[in-house]
Amino acid sequence: MTGAGREGGLGEAICLRLAAEGAAILVTDIAAAKENLPADRTGSMDEVERVVARIAGHGGRAAAAALDVRDEAQVIAAVGAAVKHFGGLDIVINNAGVGYLMEPLIEMSIDRWQTVLGVNLTGAFLCSKHAARQMIAQGRGGRIINIASVAAKSGSLHLAAYAASKHGLIGLTRSAALELGTHGITVNAVCSNHVTTQLGSVQNAYRAKQRGQTIDEYLAEMRRRIPLGRVGLAEDTAKACAFLCSNEASYMTGEAMNVSGGQEVH
Ligand SMILES: NC(=O)c1ccc[n+]([C@@H]2O[C@H](COP(=O)([O-])OP(=O)(O)OC[C@H]3O[C@@H](n4cnc5c(N)ncnc54)[C@H](O)[C@@H]3O)[C@@H](O)[C@H]2O)c1
Repeated sequence: MTGAGREGGLGEAICLRLAAEGAAILVTDIAAAKENLPADRTGSMDEVERVVARIAGHGGRAAAAALDVRDEAQVIAAVGAAVKHFGGLDIVINNAGVGYLMEPLIEMSIDRWQTVLGVNLTGAFLCSKHAARQMIAQGRGGRIINIASVAAKSGSLHLAAYAASKHGLIGLTRSAALELGTHGITVNAVCSNHVTTQLGSVQNAYRAKQRGQTIDEYLAEMRRRIPLGRVGLAEDTAKACAFLCSNEASYMTGEAMNVSGGQEVH
C-alpha cells in the first residue's frame, strides 16, 4: 500500500478495511519532505507507524516501510520487504498521489508538472512493474488497484497535471490488464470523487477562495451536484478496493470504476 501515512487519508481507510478482511499489509509512505512535497503535505514515518498500530489494535497484521514511489530501487526494496514480512505479495494498491499543487496551466512550472506526473503516474508504473514480477514468480495471480479519481475522466480546473496523470493512470490500468491477465493478475482503477482528506481540504480551500465562497458554501454547492447528495468518504473507496480484491471481482479487469455518488457516469 503506497502513500498510506496520513490520518484520514484514503490509504489509511483502505489499509484498515483490507486488514479487517484478513490481508497482511506493508504500509508505506514517502516519510521525508522533498521538493514540492513539503512535510505538512506528506506522510511521515511516525504517521505510517501509527497506521500500523491502528491495524494491530484491530487485530490485523501490518509492517511499516518508507517508500518514495518514484525511486525504482526503493520500490524493489519495498516488494522485498513485503515478501520478507508476509511470505509473498498478492495485492498492490497504488494510492500515493499529489493533488494539492493547484494553479492555472499557463503558470505551471515544469518541475511542479513533473512532480505530479512522477508520483501519480510513474510511481504507479514502477510499483505495478515490480509487484507484477513478484506475483508472476509466485504463480498464484494477484490484484493491482490504482486509485485514480473522477479527474481521470473529466478535466479539472487548475489541476491540469493531476487530471493528466489520472487519465494516464487509466491507460496504464487498461494496458497492464491486457498484459497481466494471462498470469491471473487483475488490474483495475477506482475513480473516487471528492473526499475531505488532508489533500481534499487543500483543494476545498483553493476552490472556495477562487469562487469567493466560504468552504461550507463551496461544499454545499458540490453536494447539490452529486446525485446521492453527499461528498465521498474514505470508506467508500476502501469498500470498492475490498470488492476488487475479493473473489466477487475475479472476472473484472481493466475497469475504471466510479465511486462518486453518481457525479461521474462515464
Ligand atoms: N481526497 C480526494 O478528494 C481524492 C479523490 C479522488 C482520488 N484521490 C486520490 O486518492 C489518493 C490518496 O489521496 P488522499 O486524499 O488520501 O490524500 P493524502 O494526502 O492523505 O494521501 C496522499 C499520500 O501520497 C503520499 N505521497 C506523496 N508523494 C509521494 C511519493 N513520492 N511516494 C510515496 N508517497 C507519496 C503522501 O505522503 C500522502 O500520504 C491520491 O492518489 C489521490 O489523488 C483523492
